[in-house]
Amino acid sequence: MHKIHAAITAVHGYVPDYVLTNHELEKLVDTNDEWITTRTGIKERRILKGEGLATSDLAVPAVKTLLEKRGIGADEIDLIIFCTTTPDMPFPATANILADKIGAKNAWGYDLQAACSGFVYGLSTGASFIESGRHKKVLVVGGDKMSSIIDYNDRATCIIFGDGCGAALLEPNEEGYGIMDSVLKSDGSGREFLHMKAGGSLRPATHETVSAREHYAYQEGKTVFKFAVTNMADVAAEIMQRNCLVADDIAWLVPHQANKRIIDATASRMGISDDKVVVNIERYGNTTNGTIPLCLWEWENKFKKGDNIVLAAFGGGFTWGSMYLRWAY
Ligand code: UT7
Repeated sequence: MHKIHAAITAVHGYVPDYVLTNHELEKLVDTNDEWITTRTGIKERRILKGEGLATSDLAVPAVKTLLEKRGIGADEIDLIIFCTTTPDMPFPATANILADKIGAKNAWGYDLQAACSGFVYGLSTGASFIESGRHKKVLVVGGDKMSSIIDYNDRATCIIFGDGCGAALLEPNEEGYGIMDSVLKSDGSGREFLHMKAGGSLRPATHETVSAREHYAYQEGKTVFKFAVTNMADVAAEIMQRNCLVADDIAWLVPHQANKRIIDATASRMGISDDKVVVNIERYGNTTNGTIPLCLWEWENKFKKGDNIVLAAFGGGFTWGSMYLRWAY
């Protein structure tokens, strides 16, 4: 019997219609298009507008279309792993809410919180359920309504983040395609540089926490940048080495979209040319858990069966990781 790999068999994404441009941000904070473009590579990002809409509402259209593309019903999903930093509510899990909204009546599920590395953590975790033979169809969703935790008075964060969501279906493959390896890391001492101060059990919401604007994402960008550049490149190099891959073997690098300069540093460390690097940061900014699945969705038609693809991510926590997969369709 051949080894069972977990293969991605369908992907889809969704971004909301509203486009928040750099020029619009110039009216909100002391910034300018030239600074944002040269420092981050971002030109615009999408924002989910409208009352009563949450992260699960970004996931519903992505997942519904994914299921149509794969030709299966929601009731065939065994497990939903929802990777998000902006759950609809502190509890219940957004995975449960999504299951209800799409009619995934036979699925169990949970949320996974690893900030910007969430989707890579989620694929790796989901793969274990397939590889063990326990499940046949695992849906991994990565998405965030970052605009719900961004302070549009804070130029250090509001220029970076956007809203969006993507999803991938994992199924067993015995032909040698799918997820081959992953390297996942974390270092909780990095939490002071990227976090949300209040709203958790450490500092529950009070009038004071709201007045002090502590329910927004806080980032010391320069420090996070230094760790991200080093760690994302290190972990991508490590997965190449572990799997005896040289740059020529890799068809695509799909990096987390936090900053074009971090992406370039990772590609350069791997020796990968720009034409093999998937980048859409200029249109969506950093959608946290959404970046990698949105990239997979937008590049799906360019991927060929058997392509060696490396994913790499870095995020709050700190968390970081890379994954090597052989595209299955
Ligand atoms: O996805 C999860 C992980 N997150 C990341 O990977 C993000 C990592 N960090 C970054 O991408 C970058 O640090 C930022 C894009 C957030 C900031 O870029 P930077 O090159 O690190 O800028 P900086 O914070 O060192 O600031 C440089 C200058 C400062 O002015 P002075 O002190 O040199 O006069 C800032 O006050 O730019 C100023 N500045 C801005 N100017 C215009 C900071 N933010 C802005 C802004 N517009 N939005």
